[in-house]
Amino acid sequence: MGTDSKDAERFLRQRRSLVRWLKEQGYLNSDAVANAVLKVPREEFVPSAFRDHSYAETPLPIPGANATISCVHTYCLYYEALDLSPGDRFLEIGLGSGYGAALARELVGEEGKVVSVELDEETYQFGKERLERTGYHDVFTVLDDGSAGHVDLAPYDKIAVTAACPGEPAEILPQLTSPGRMIYPAGGDAYQYLMLTELDANGEKSSRCLTTVIYVPLRGRHGKRP
Ligand SMILES: C[S@@+](CC[C@H](N)C(=O)[O-])C[C@H]1O[C@@H](n2cnc3c(N)ncnc32)[C@H](O)[C@@H]1O
Repeated sequence: MGTDSKDAERFLRQRRSLVRWLKEQGYLNSDAVANAVLKVPREEFVPSAFRDHSYAETPLPIPGANATISCVHTYCLYYEALDLSPGDRFLEIGLGSGYGAALARELVGEEGKVVSVELDEETYQFGKERLERTGYHDVFTVLDDGSAGHVDLAPYDKIAVTAACPGEPAEILPQLTSPGRMIYPAGGDAYQYLMLTELDANGEKSSRCLTTVIYVPLRGRHGKRP
C-alpha cells in the first residue's frame, strides 16, 4: 500500500471522527449533509502547508487576499438551514477553496446546479483548480464581483453568501425563486448574525437570525469593502 492510500485512509478516519463529533455537538443532524462531509476530501481543498490540520475545527488560510476555508460545522449550519436538496439550483458567493461548492454539488446531485462566484483572482484559481483535481468538473465557477449575485445563471432555489454583508443583500434577493431560501452573515466586523431569508410560494418574505458567526468581509460594489 503506497503513502497516498495510507494518507487517504488517515483522512477518512479523521472525517468519520469529525462527523461523530459534529453530531454529538448538535451541529449535524441531516444524513445527506453527513454523507457529503464523509465523501468530500477536505484535505484536497487546503493548502499543502495546512494539510495535516484539514479536519481541525478552525478556519484555515487559502491563497488570495483575506480568504479562508471555513470550519466544517459552518457548512453544516448553512446547508441544513437551506435544506439544500437534489435538483436545487444553488448560488454560492465566495468560492474560496471550492470545498463548499463540492459539498453543495454532492447535495444537489446531477439534476441540480452549483454556481460559485469569487472576486479574488488568486483565490479563484486555487478553488477552481481544487474542484477540477477532485473531479467536480460541473460546478460553474465565475471570477467576478458577486455582491450583486450572478444574474446570468439565475434564478436559484437556494443562495449562500459566505462573506460578511453590511445588511440583507438586496441586490441578490431578486435572483431567488419563490419558494426559495438565502443565507448570509450580516453585521459588523467583529461578528455577524447568520440570517436565513425565506420566500414562500407567493413571494412573501420572512427573515430570522440563526446564530452568530465570524466571516471575512464581503468586498465589491455592494459589500463592506471596495
Ligand atoms: C470565508 S471565504 C469562503 C469560503 C468558501 N465558501 C469555501 O468553501 O472555501 C469568503 C470568500 O468570499 C470572497 N469574496 C469576498 N467578497 C466577494 C465578492 N464581492 N464576490 C465574490 N466573492 C467574494 C473572498 O475572496 C473569500 O474567498
